[in-house]
Amino acid sequence: MSVSQQSYSAWMLRLHWLTVLLIIAIYASIEFRVIFVKGSLERDLIKEVHFVLGLSLWCITWLRLLVRRFSLIPLIEPAPKAAVLKIAALMHAALYVFLLLMPVLGYLLLSAADSIIPFWGVQLPALIKPDPDVAAFIKEVHELVGKTGYVFIALHVLGALAHHYIAKDNTLKRMLPALFSTKS
Ligand code: HEM
Ligand code: HEM
Repeated sequence: MSVSQQSYSAWMLRLHWLTVLLIIAIYASIEFRVIFVKGSLERDLIKEVHFVLGLSLWCITWLRLLVRRFSLIPLIEPAPKAAVLKIAALMHAALYVFLLLMPVLGYLLLSAADSIIPFWGVQLPALIKPDPDVAAFIKEVHELVGKTGYVFIALHVLGALAHHYIAKDNTLKRMLPALFSTKS
């Protein structure tokens, strides 16, 4: 257990910033698929990147929750109001639900669409029977929650910046690798 009172543990930092990189790649791979013609090899490949990284993020999020279970969460100084801490906790819970829900919806979507479910060179089994109506419904939900994710992430980033520049507390510094944190 590697913990400190000033900062999140090294593994919590690594897993947070790995999540950020993966989320960027997951969104970019699906948004930029339209560059390629429908049915082309390139389009199929970039979509496969979306599926594989999305499923990997699901595994990484469970690992992150496990690491969190055994980590100390550093205190914010100066301490924000209880209401602010409550909102932040709710926001983090919502982000974790999002990170765990989206890959499951994607997996169910590919299953219902009777598509191949690739995962680092292996094909995963379908979770549900093929059904075009169910696939269309899950696709709607996956896209809707996916678009909502942009809003949640934007609010999260704005919150982190507000802590740093307006409240001038150590919230952001606790989540930055030692390389970026300046002693004040
Ligand atoms: C955190 C993880 C994920 C996020 C944030 C995410 C986000 C999105 C978004 C925003 C779209 C809609 C794009 C658009 O229509 O403009 C989309 C589409 C889709 N996603 Fe995901 N996704 C994730 C994981 C997955 C996984 C793990 C799979 C499958 C194993 C998957 C399968 C799909 C499929 C099949 C589509 C429809 C693609 C198409 O219409 O060509 N997603 N995703
Ligand atoms: C892009 C997708 C992102 C996701 C999905 C995400 C997710 C999360 C989650 C779930 C937590 C809670 C950690 C815990 O369990 O205690 C967290 C904490 C944090 N994140 Fe992010 N994050 C993202 C991007 C960012 C970015 C870009 C920044 C910096 C501007 C940032 C700054 C922070 C900070 C400072 C904390 C600590 C907050 C606190 O302890 O009150 N995050 N993030």
